[in-house]
Amino acid sequence: MNKPARYLITSALPYANGPKHIGHLAGAYLPADIYVRYLRAKKEDVVYVCGSDEHGAAITIQALKEKTTPRAIVDKYHAMLKSNMADLGISFDIYHRTSEPIHHETAQEFFTALNNKGDLIQKETEQFYDEEAKSFLADRYIIGTCPVCANESAYGDQCEKCGTSLSPDQLINPRSTLSGKPPSKRSTTHWFLPLDRHEDFLKEWILKEHKEDWKVNVLGQCKSWMDLGLQPRAVTRDLEWGVPLPADVVGGKGKVLYVWFDAPIGYISATKQWALDNNKDWKPYWHDKDTKLVHFIGKDNIVFHAIIFPVMLKLHGNILPDNVPSNEFMNLEGDKMSTSRGWSIEMDDYINDFVKQENGGDMMVDALRYYLTQIAPETKDSEFTWKGFQDAVNSELVAIFGNYVNRTFVLMHKLCNGKVPPMHMDIADDADRKMFEEIQNTKIKIQDLIESYKFRDALYEVIDLARKGNKYMQDKEPWIVAKSLVADASAQKLIDNCLHVCLQLTANLAVFVNPFLPFTAKKMCYMMKVVDKILNWENAGKSKLVSVGYSLRPPELLFRKIEDEEVKAQVEKLKNKKLKMENTDPKSTTEKTETVVANVKPEIQFDDFAKIDLKIATIVTAEKVEKADKLLQLEVDLGFEKRTIVSGIAEYFKPEDIVGKQVVVAANLAPRKMRGIESQGMILMAEDKGGKLHFVNPETIIDTGSGVS
Ligand code: MF3
Ligand code: ZN
Repeated sequence: MNKPARYLITSALPYANGPKHIGHLAGAYLPADIYVRYLRAKKEDVVYVCGSDEHGAAITIQALKEKTTPRAIVDKYHAMLKSNMADLGISFDIYHRTSEPIHHETAQEFFTALNNKGDLIQKETEQFYDEEAKSFLADRYIIGTCPVCANESAYGDQCEKCGTSLSPDQLINPRSTLSGKPPSKRSTTHWFLPLDRHEDFLKEWILKEHKEDWKVNVLGQCKSWMDLGLQPRAVTRDLEWGVPLPADVVGGKGKVLYVWFDAPIGYISATKQWALDNNKDWKPYWHDKDTKLVHFIGKDNIVFHAIIFPVMLKLHGNILPDNVPSNEFMNLEGDKMSTSRGWSIEMDDYINDFVKQENGGDMMVDALRYYLTQIAPETKDSEFTWKGFQDAVNSELVAIFGNYVNRTFVLMHKLCNGKVPPMHMDIADDADRKMFEEIQNTKIKIQDLIESYKFRDALYEVIDLARKGNKYMQDKEPWIVAKSLVADASAQKLIDNCLHVCLQLTANLAVFVNPFLPFTAKKMCYMMKVVDKILNWENAGKSKLVSVGYSLRPPELLFRKIEDEEVKAQVEKLKNKKLKMENTDPKSTTEKTETVVANVKPEIQFDDFAKIDLKIATIVTAEKVEKADKLLQLEVDLGFEKRTIVSGIAEYFKPEDIVGKQVVVAANLAPRKMRGIESQGMILMAEDKGGKLHFVNPETIIDTGSGVS
């Protein structure tokens, strides 16, 4: 297309039926956010919309599970998703929800428009029905054996084990999840979108027009779907939870729009709401041919965004997506990521464990953004491992990028009075000129890569530039040159040039890294005492980003190392979570005793155990930690000294109730910062089956400081 007048960027609306994991983040949110931040830095007119998908069986099934209402479910998880995304720096212009009235109206109008034009057809069909529960059954409510991989608990719409899309008819031994009985069939009338009418259009549009610019995996899925022959798709359901059919539709009573009909329309309603909130006109974003519409999605959403929704948009007179970048899946420590099986890292968990646990948790957001981008499953499935995370952070972010920036600042303060030194052109050499060339080349490479959705390669260029910066500095050795200053004052010119180049490179790195690691870029601006405006993309590649003579702040740590213990703790946590899931999963009650026995950490030697110094301590004071719901700050007396300990027990104990209590403390644990407070030890707690915590303490009060072994 010609140069777009504006951009509308969407990320798939996540179901508000539970926490989402980092595979989701890497699939549809992070890449979109990088793209959007880049476009904003280019000062493009861009709107980035998303929101919670609050209808469909995903929601009602969760409500059954949690023994509550669909409304309660969507309220709870919408709030969680919204705050998680914000914490991770996903910069939506609006995070909307499909239960909002404006969405219901928009979806109903959309349906009416198509229905009135004769673009939908009505058909009587046989639907699965649960006689006992007196309810039609959504595909998700039927489970049975997968005809492809023999998984016994495949859903009527999809087998989660092998990923095959299914219809309930294909299941072997189908049964209803409501009553557990085999479902019967009843006839009912529904509205269908006759995709078969649009076959020519789709083939032309996808396989010819977008042959070059869409990803191979997307084209491949579309092609195999079309090869199977396009069928009319039902767009209504006999359910209570959803967008009701417009009141004036004859025979529409008691029916709702199928969730996959209403959800993508959510992109439009979100845009409308954004426009209302910001005094803008939403229409050009969905009607003007000069708008570039891009849907970022995971691979299980491809046909909906590349085939079905485009047909709806075309019929409705809207623009079509220019691209549908879709990622493959991200596996975790050798297995498929899955929240329901407990084998996943939830965004919420990462935030609690890393972002909210220490000073400058923002750097841990960027650390995650870095690793997820670096292993993004752009062309094939990829794998997250905690070890890989540690390596990426320690040996790239810390050792290359962070180290480069830090050395530059330290040397500038040491050798140039903390001011940007001048560049003495008379002695500028090839290495200096080459460095500036590299900066310019990097700009071109990064922008080409981002614009073709290759974020992983683009990020590589950023780090590679920092690597070149390190090499440049290493070759110039200004710290060695400094030693000759006493004998030869002109050596200062050499030092000036080196650090001038290094600082201009640092400023450029801030611009380059900004779409990927926004918190880092911000911190770099702070250190350089420049406003965030410097991050505008038009500045990228410039050789005079920071002015000569300008004095800069001392360096701050951009990243921190991930310790082996943290990796171990996370892997352990993951395994335990899975075990816990298996124990609470009704399917595996028979295995229960076995797994309880198996839930023991790997064997250690007595020497390992003896290293832990356990002591009886008495709690002297206790208070809540500000803005941390789970944490209490305690002062404990160990007999020989008092210590501060931060403990995650606030949900179970009131501060005033525990003062004077004796507890067991791991007294020789390395101190750890939590919420900016140094915790000098850990209190032993027992967790009961319900997850409640209890103190472990002596039967009667004994001497404070007594050893425990
Ligand atoms: N909620 C769907 C899922 O998680 C995605 C909906 S995308 C939309 O798979 F286009 F329908 F909004
Ligand atoms: Zn299967």
